[in-house]
Amino acid sequence: MAPNILITGGSGYLGGSLLANLKPANLPSHGCIFAAVRKPEQAEAVKQYNVMPLTLDLDDADGTTKAIIDNEISVIFFLVDAIKSQTQLTMIKALAEVKKKTGNEVHFLHTTGAKMFSSHVGHPTDKPLLDTDPKLYDIQKSHQGPFDIMNTALSTNNIVIDAAEARGVRCYIFAPCIVYGKGEGFGNKISIQTVAIVQAARALQQVYKTDPGNPTWPVCHVYDNTTLYLQILRKILEGEEIGYGKNGYFLASSGSVPWNDLYAAMARALAQHGAVDDEAVKEADEGVLKKMGEALKCSPDFVAVQLAGTCAYTAEHGKRIGWVPKYSAEHILEAASAEVELILKHQAA
Ligand SMILES: NC(=O)c1ccc[n+]([C@@H]2O[C@H](COP(=O)([O-])OP(=O)(O)OC[C@H]3O[C@@H](n4cnc5c(N)ncnc54)[C@H](OP(=O)(O)O)[C@@H]3O)[C@@H](O)[C@H]2O)c1
Repeated sequence: MAPNILITGGSGYLGGSLLANLKPANLPSHGCIFAAVRKPEQAEAVKQYNVMPLTLDLDDADGTTKAIIDNEISVIFFLVDAIKSQTQLTMIKALAEVKKKTGNEVHFLHTTGAKMFSSHVGHPTDKPLLDTDPKLYDIQKSHQGPFDIMNTALSTNNIVIDAAEARGVRCYIFAPCIVYGKGEGFGNKISIQTVAIVQAARALQQVYKTDPGNPTWPVCHVYDNTTLYLQILRKILEGEEIGYGKNGYFLASSGSVPWNDLYAAMARALAQHGAVDDEAVKEADEGVLKKMGEALKCSPDFVAVQLAGTCAYTAEHGKRIGWVPKYSAEHILEAASAEVELILKHQAA
């Protein structure tokens, strides 16, 4: 039976971009593609992508389970919550029931984030940490950082893998990184970390760096992030075994750039828009960190988690399954002006 697919988070930045690119992707033979929604206007909006809206309250475990089993969904892409694990567990259990009922192989993709492979959760940063590293699961299990919320998100990756393995569900741990570019869906059009840089800079009328040295972080244009989701889906539909569970990590990134270069490029653009006093990038002291925290609605010590840190996580798995990113890592620096403009427009709206 051709597999039915459920995509969640379709009103979001990543999920909307995924929905918008389903048609041009010309996927191999499949059953119905459902998009999880929670409002009538979202149900209406997703129809433009030739997908079937499925109204779900993801906090309702029974309702979610029933919808997955009744609709015989055997592939779920989860793009909603990188931190908690309850909904993912519900979905994995339901997929196992669908496998029993239909005999189909079942697949669950969890969207985490590059932060869960970085200095913020005590991961090694002294050399590239490949997403194909056979020790990655052990590294994820044995490292933690100073923030409970980050450790919870890290544990979620492990919980998903353990639960899926115990129930015969093939799972994939998909990590977006600094994603940039205009979202292509009907809902949210802007990202997270670039937005945090702009938000803090506007509040202080200056771009500030929080970390010493020249730390780097992986980056990815939203289009390339989308095409990795699609390449995984394509391979699943072709019945190819691409590595799953403890070998199912994927980083969506075309390479890394130094935060300092990104700050400088964004500071130039912010200065051109009159959103900061000048284009200099200054070092944050305690008082500045406090104000940045107020702007980002977090404690001063959490500011760096939002717009700094070191991440040596390196994308290899996607390339092995035929994913070819279109944009180089350095493109984010060339695109900084457009990114700033997009964010400023959104914040003014
Ligand atoms: N964007 C990035 O650069 C990036 C980087 C790394 C990791 N991630 C992770 O990837 C995931 C998606 O990111 P995003 O940028 O696309 O986020 P987003 O634009 O904020 O979208 C979040 C999506 O999740 C849905 N959602 C949230 N809570 C829900 C709930 N309780 N029940 C049902 N749906 C719910 C939202 O639906 P509504 O519209 O109905 O609220 C929306 O469709 C997040 O977990 C994020 O942390 C993103």
